[in-house]
Amino acid sequence: MKTKVYLTRRIPDEGIALLKKQNYHLVINPLDKPVPRKILLQEIKNIDGILCMLSDRIDRRVIDTAQRLKVISNYAVGYDNIDVHYASKKGIIITNTPGVLTEATAEVTWALIFAIARRVAEADRFVRQGKFKVWSPTLLLGRLLTGKILGIVGAGRIGQAVAKKASAFGMKIIYYNRRAKTSFEKQTQAKKASLETILKNADFVSIHLPLTEETKHFIGAKELRMMKDTAYLINVARGPIVDESALVSALKTKIIAGAGLDVYEKEPDVHQDLVKLDNVVLLPHLGSATIETRTEMAIIAAENLIAVLQDKKPRFVVKPT
Ligand code: NAP
Ligand code: GLV
Ligand code: GLV
Repeated sequence: MKTKVYLTRRIPDEGIALLKKQNYHLVINPLDKPVPRKILLQEIKNIDGILCMLSDRIDRRVIDTAQRLKVISNYAVGYDNIDVHYASKKGIIITNTPGVLTEATAEVTWALIFAIARRVAEADRFVRQGKFKVWSPTLLLGRLLTGKILGIVGAGRIGQAVAKKASAFGMKIIYYNRRAKTSFEKQTQAKKASLETILKNADFVSIHLPLTEETKHFIGAKELRMMKDTAYLINVARGPIVDESALVSALKTKIIAGAGLDVYEKEPDVHQDLVKLDNVVLLPHLGSATIETRTEMAIIAAENLIAVLQDKKPRFVVKPT
C-alpha cells in the first residue's frame, strides 16, 4: 500500500516540494482554512503521516481513530495542541520546528513592546480618524524603554533572544525560569529572580513559557496586582498562560498600564472587551509570520515527517515530560 501523507493546511511551496519528491499519496486540505474536525477524523484513519498546524487539536479521539499513523509533524515549536503522552504511548513520533522561528518571534515581541509603550496602534487610529490637527506637548504620551527593567518569564530560546536585544536600549534584565541559565546570565548580565520579584519590579513583563498543565493561568489576578501600575504585560507564548478575564479587568481598572498580545485564551476568539480597550495592542498570532521563517518551518516540518517515514531519526522530536 502506498504511504499516505495528509497536510491539514497548505504550507510554503518549499515544504510541499520535498514531500512531492517522495513517492507518497499526498493529500492537502483544499480549503484555505483549518480542516473541519469531521474531515480530520476521516482522513486520520488511513494515513501514515500528518503535517498539522497549532490550530489542529490532535487529542485522544484523533489518535485513537488513526490506524497506521507513525508521525505527527507539527508546523510550530509549541505542541500543546497535541496529546503528546497519549500519542507517544501508542508509538507515534511527534516532531516540531524549534529554533528557526526564535528571532522572528523575538522581533514580534519587540514590535509589541514598542507599540504598547509608544502607543503606535492607538496613534495610527488617531491619524486615520482625522484627529491630528496640531502638534501638542501632551498628545499621546507613552513611556520610555531606555533604562527600564525587562522581566522575562521563561528564558528559553525565545525569551533569551528577546532579552539579548534589550541591550540596545540599556535595559536591565531579570528573568524567571525553573532552571538557571548561566551562559545567558554571562552574555546579558541578566539576573535570575522569583516570579514575584519580576512582577513587582519589571516595567515590561514578557511571557515566553510553553503552555503546560503547570503554566495554565500562570498569570492571574493575583500576579497582575503585583505588577506596577506603570508596567506592561506582553504575551507571545500561548493565550491560556494568562487568565484573560483577569487581564481585561486589570487593563480596565489600570492596575497595569497596558498589554501587548499575540495569543488569546480561546483562539481565534478574542475577548470582546479587549477589542474595546486602547491600552492593549492585539496581533493575530503572528510570532513566526515572516516569509523566511515560514519557509524554513515548512522545510523542517517536511524533513521531520519524511525522516520518520524512512525509519530515520528526525531532527526535532518532542518527548513526553
Ligand atoms: P523553549 O526554548 O523550550 O523555552 C521555554 C522555556 O520555558 C525554557 O527555558 C523552560 O525551562 C521554561 N519553562 C518551561 N516550563 C516551565 C515552568 N513550569 N516554570 C518555569 N519555566 C518553565 O521554547 P521556545 O522555543 O522559546 O518557545 C516558547 C513558547 O513560545 C512555545 O512553547 C510556544 O508556545 C510559544 N511560541 C509562540 C509563537 C507565536 O507565534 N506567538 C511562536 C513561537 C513560539 P527549561 O530550560 O528549564 O526547560
Ligand atoms: C507558534 O506559536 C509556535 O509555537 O510555533
Ligand atoms: C520634535 O519633533 C522635536 O523637534 O523636538
